[in-house]
Amino acid sequence: MRILSGIQPSGTLHIGNYFGMMRPAIALQAEGETFYFIAEYHALTSLRDPKALRENSLRVALDFLACGLNPDRGALFRQSDVPRVAELAWILSTVAPMGLLERAHSYKDKLARGLSPTVGLFSYPVLMAADILIYDSDIVPVGKDQKQHIEITRDLAVKINETYGDVFKLPEPRISAETQVVPGIDGQKMSKSYNNNIDIFGDEKETRKRIMGIVTDSTPVEAPKDPSRSTIVQLYSLFASKVEIAEMCERFQKGGTGYGDFKKQLFEKLWEFFVPMRKRREEIMRDESYIDEVLTSGAKRANEVANQVMKRVRDAVGL
Ligand code: TYM
Repeated sequence: MRILSGIQPSGTLHIGNYFGMMRPAIALQAEGETFYFIAEYHALTSLRDPKALRENSLRVALDFLACGLNPDRGALFRQSDVPRVAELAWILSTVAPMGLLERAHSYKDKLARGLSPTVGLFSYPVLMAADILIYDSDIVPVGKDQKQHIEITRDLAVKINETYGDVFKLPEPRISAETQVVPGIDGQKMSKSYNNNIDIFGDEKETRKRIMGIVTDSTPVEAPKDPSRSTIVQLYSLFASKVEIAEMCERFQKGGTGYGDFKKQLFEKLWEFFVPMRKRREEIMRDESYIDEVLTSGAKRANEVANQVMKRVRDAVGL
C-alpha cells in the first residue's frame, strides 16, 4: 500500500498540522510505503521570498523528522525534486473542467482573504492531483480542509481513465475523526494565515503568550462554565488522557476556577508533550548533512516511482 501526503513550507508548522496530518502520517508508516513531501510549488502561490522558501522547506523537513518520521520507512522529499509532477499537472489540466475548480472552497477562501486570483492559485488542486496520482497512491492522510481536493483528484483520475483507459488508481482520503479540524486560539480552524496558530516548536514565552490569548467569554471566575464550547478544552483534549479531560470538564462545570488557570494547565500539558520532539530536533540540528541526505534519497525513490507512472501516462495519452 502506498501512502502519500504533502505539507506547504509557507511558514512554521503548528499543532493543527501536527494532529491533522503529521501524527497520522507518521503512524501510517507501519502500514505501507510512505511518500511525504514538502509542497514548495504550492507554496509559491502565496510566498514569493526565495530565501524564506528555501529555509522554510528545510525547517519543515527538520520538524517532520523531529516529530518521529522515519526516513527508512518511506521517502521524505521536496516536491520540486520531482519535476515530472508539473508535466502531469499539465496533462490533468487538459481534462479538468473549469466549473470543478471554480467550486473549490480553498480557492474561494483565498480570494476572500485578498490573495490575487492567479492561474496558479486557481489550478492548485490540479497540481495536488498530480502529486497524488504520480505515485499510484492508495491513501492520503490529511486534515478535513483538504477533503475536497482529494475528491477533485478522484474526479480527474476518473476523467483520464474514461478518456484513455485504466491509467490511474483512485486514492482515498484518510481523515482522523478526532483531529480533523484543530481550532486556533480564536476558535476558528487553526491556520497560519488567520494568525491564530500555536506552533509545534515555538519558544516557551511565545507559546505561553499564545495560549494565554485564547479567546473566551466573560463568565466570572466563580460561575460554572460550559466545557463543550471551550477552545481550551478542545485543545487540552489533544494532549491529555481521558481521565484528565474529564477532570477539567468537571472543574469547568463546578465553577470557582478562572479561564486563566485552565489556560496555564493547557500550556503545561502542551509543553511537556513536545519535550521528546524538541530533544530530537536539537540532535538532528547538530548533524548538518543529515537532512540533505534524507531529502536526496527521498527524491531518488520518489523519482523512480514517478518515472514509471509517467511512462504509463505518456503512452496512454500518445506522447
Ligand atoms: P497545508 O500545508 O495547509 O497543511 C498540511 C496538513 O495539515 C492539515 N491541517 C490541519 N488539520 C487539522 N486542523 C487544522 N487546523 C489544520 N491545518 C492544517 C492539512 O489538512 C494538511 O493535511 N494542499 C496541501 C498540501 C498538499 C498536499 C498535496 C496534501 C499539496 N499537495 C497532496 C496531500 C496530498 C496544503 O496546503 O496543506
